[in-house]
Amino acid sequence: MNAPVEGFSKLSKAQKIDWIANNCTKDAKATKQLLERYWNADEAVQKLHDEFIENTLSNYYLPFAVAPNFLIDGELRTIPMAIEESSVVAAASKAAKFWLTRGGFKTEILGTEKVGQVHFIFKGDSKTLSAFFNEIHAELLKSVSAITENMEKRGGGINAIELRDWSDKIEGYFQLHCTFETLDAMGANFINSCLEQFATTLKEEASIYPNFTEEERNLEVVMSILSNYVPNCLVKAEVSCPISELGDNDMAAREFAEKFVRAVDIANVEPFRAVTHNKGIMNGIDAVVLATGNDFRAVEAGIHAYAAKNGQYSSLTHAAIEGDRFKFWIEIPLALGTVGGLTTLHPLVKLALEILQHPSAKELMRIVAVAGLAQNFAAIKSLVTTGIQKGHMKMHLLNMLNQMGATEEEKAQMVDYFKHNTVSNASVKEAMEKIRAK
Ligand code: MEV
Repeated sequence: MNAPVEGFSKLSKAQKIDWIANNCTKDAKATKQLLERYWNADEAVQKLHDEFIENTLSNYYLPFAVAPNFLIDGELRTIPMAIEESSVVAAASKAAKFWLTRGGFKTEILGTEKVGQVHFIFKGDSKTLSAFFNEIHAELLKSVSAITENMEKRGGGINAIELRDWSDKIEGYFQLHCTFETLDAMGANFINSCLEQFATTLKEEASIYPNFTEEERNLEVVMSILSNYVPNCLVKAEVSCPISELGDNDMAAREFAEKFVRAVDIANVEPFRAVTHNKGIMNGIDAVVLATGNDFRAVEAGIHAYAAKNGQYSSLTHAAIEGDRFKFWIEIPLALGTVGGLTTLHPLVKLALEILQHPSAKELMRIVAVAGLAQNFAAIKSLVTTGIQKGHMKMHLLNMLNQMGATEEEKAQMVDYFKHNTVSNASVKEAMEKIRAK
């Protein structure tokens, strides 16, 4: 345990590193060298990263990769992914290639509505509150006109403001439940600015409303914040093909299709399986969301809430056999941006968006949904046929060899050996010992 530190954020970067190295690590010199080794050689780029957050010491790398050959609505895409898990990109690429010759992925945007709320306490008559709200509705909109002007010029803005009564759950609890169209921006700043102004206007107008009692005029705003639950900012992605085109090496096509559908059905009804099933989907989704500079925590929170929308956590994907056809689809809420935020700042985010041919937010929703569906297809395909360990351990082999400090020559020999042998911790250790004994 180290002692509390005063004014840490005001120290220079070098002083912060000194403090960490001396107070939190055993080898101060090695710590400093490590942190500096991960700095960007270009000072301007480093400064950019330093300024993303507070107390930056260095950079934390994740692999930046691409999965090619995604045919989405007739267009070929190469999808950038930032992720550390060994087999994710390989699995996405495999699924993309599989569906490339079977019609590709088809997508549909089902809505683009974002949400924000002003939460407040009003201890009084709800009918009078309703009348007050109707009277100030135009004033609320007018009060944010400076914030909404540009967004409106581009075709976005505020869709609706609704008064919602939650007073049966918490005494006096009401909301202004607001919906927005933020076009290509994720919209968090826009929405939060509008909400905070709504809150101010709400309080001001309440304080002078003649039909309120003294207590009612003192309406209390608790908080104003966007919601990351966006069930009407929704995208669907789908693949389908004749069952006869599904055949896996050792498994007949219909048997594979039926087993696949059963695996999805299990995730639909059983939460332990549903969580892992959806985790695999998020492997694909988060990787693209992160590579394109979007907020993966917001996306995660919103998607998992959607998975539980019917009262039980269940699968985000669905599968069916309809006559001779196999159908597999996903439906998820996604609030994404392709302008603002990191999109014009982080050099690799800019590159990711360029690789995707500068998509609109709607196009990015389609692409991200496809990445999730592809990932789930690859996972279930492995699970119901070979099991996942075969592919996973093969991809993990290099991590294990690096942990053992293998030389490039040893790595080449081991990779060759494990082309025809099963990878496990024990088998890799044993093979390595044999090579080293020679
Ligand atoms: C591993 O990261 C993801 C899987 O467990 C997903 C699944 O089980 O469907 C393979």
